[in-house]
Amino acid sequence: MKLWGGRFSGRRDPLFEKFSESFSLDQRFVLYDLRVNLAYVKALAEARVLQPREAGRIGAGLEALRREVQGNPGWANGQSAEDVHTWVEATLERLVGDAARKLRTGRSRNDLVATEMRLYVKDATLSLERALVALLTALVSKAQVHAHVVLPGYTHLQPAQPILFAHYLLAYFEMFSRDGSRLRDCRVRADELPMGAGALAGTTFPINRERLAKELGFARVARNSVDVTSDRDPVAELLFACALCMLHLSRWAEDLIIYSSPGFGFVELADAYSTGSSLMPQKKNPDSLELIRGKCGRVFGSLNALFVTMKGLPMTYNRDMQEDKEPLFDAADQLDGSLEMARVVVESAKLNPAVPAAAAEESWAIATDLADALARAGTPFHRAHQLAGQLVLSSLRAGKKPADWTAEDLTAFAPEFTAEMARYFRPAEGLKTREITGGSGPAAVSKALDAAEARLESWRR
Ligand code: ARG
Repeated sequence: MKLWGGRFSGRRDPLFEKFSESFSLDQRFVLYDLRVNLAYVKALAEARVLQPREAGRIGAGLEALRREVQGNPGWANGQSAEDVHTWVEATLERLVGDAARKLRTGRSRNDLVATEMRLYVKDATLSLERALVALLTALVSKAQVHAHVVLPGYTHLQPAQPILFAHYLLAYFEMFSRDGSRLRDCRVRADELPMGAGALAGTTFPINRERLAKELGFARVARNSVDVTSDRDPVAELLFACALCMLHLSRWAEDLIIYSSPGFGFVELADAYSTGSSLMPQKKNPDSLELIRGKCGRVFGSLNALFVTMKGLPMTYNRDMQEDKEPLFDAADQLDGSLEMARVVVESAKLNPAVPAAAAEESWAIATDLADALARAGTPFHRAHQLAGQLVLSSLRAGKKPADWTAEDLTAFAPEFTAEMARYFRPAEGLKTREITGGSGPAAVSKALDAAEARLESWRR
């Protein structure tokens, strides 16, 4: 069945049929298609374009089809059509006969597919947000359990300054929260009804678009029929939100891959999310994290694919736009799967607090605390930095750790040092000087943890 046969006399080449079909992908829209059609039939009846009896018959057919599809996960097996919209119309005709032929009065697949795409984006952003909240919840509870654990913070992957593990985890809380709010923004902008736009110019049938918007759960009616039939911004925005969230997940995965490697040993990953080697018996590999990191690539690719597809398309609809489905579905699916995997990996990973604590101290990450203590006592920072650097150098040469230093050693090293400054050989002391808002001081972090919990709570509502 073709929706557009009248103008043609020649046969279509099956090669082209196969090349151009989108049913294999957009069948995922089937419930949206049925829902939009049902609401649209109502609108046509209200506009007296359809007789109540015709509308009733079509409506009953659409309802029956919905039940059939919902009751049978394999409904699409063995089916074929140009696209899901064609399939619904053809199947409806088989169910209710001629009445089905009035279904598409005053509408086009252009406003139809735009409507279904927006419904999908709205649902996908919502379910991705839920998955994000679940991950954020796992991060916050890990941070609470290990509220006092210290680890070296890194720059250039070189030990930099001691920070609280909770503070480190809350950094990811911030990143993933922004991802959540990006998804919400995307949903708010996508929340406009295209139906009524027709192919591009606006339908000539007097349907009540405001009522139709309400019926389909859209916040408002799209203001311009040319724009809304040519626009794929909701897809682009969702893809960008997915790509950036994947980037955050990938950096988090990389951290955990490093921290769980034997050289670091801060964290042990659960066996359930690790794999072994077919050759090397001792291996335990972080494949779950590597796959999260790896899937990042294809999601970035999806964003790029849509951009390149849309670039330079003349107004309004062009068939190129059908190519939005694969990146859209794939990016949302990959992010959804990655968020879930990240959550279970976080929940099951075990932190060995003594290891990062020792690394924070023995890596001389406390050197800045010594320099800052000197500066607070009046030594110009230039000199303070130099003194602390010399102390580190002589310790490294002598194989001396921070814990090997006594107050007497310290005051003997340079007259600027006081006995009291020896406390900064312990990372916990330096942390206490970082109580600034947003800093890694214990009180600041505990406040940040409470705030994060409150934000999560309001998010869940
Ligand atoms: N399968 C098409 C798509 O996803 C539906 C719209 C077709 N419209 C058209 N004018 N050929 O883009």
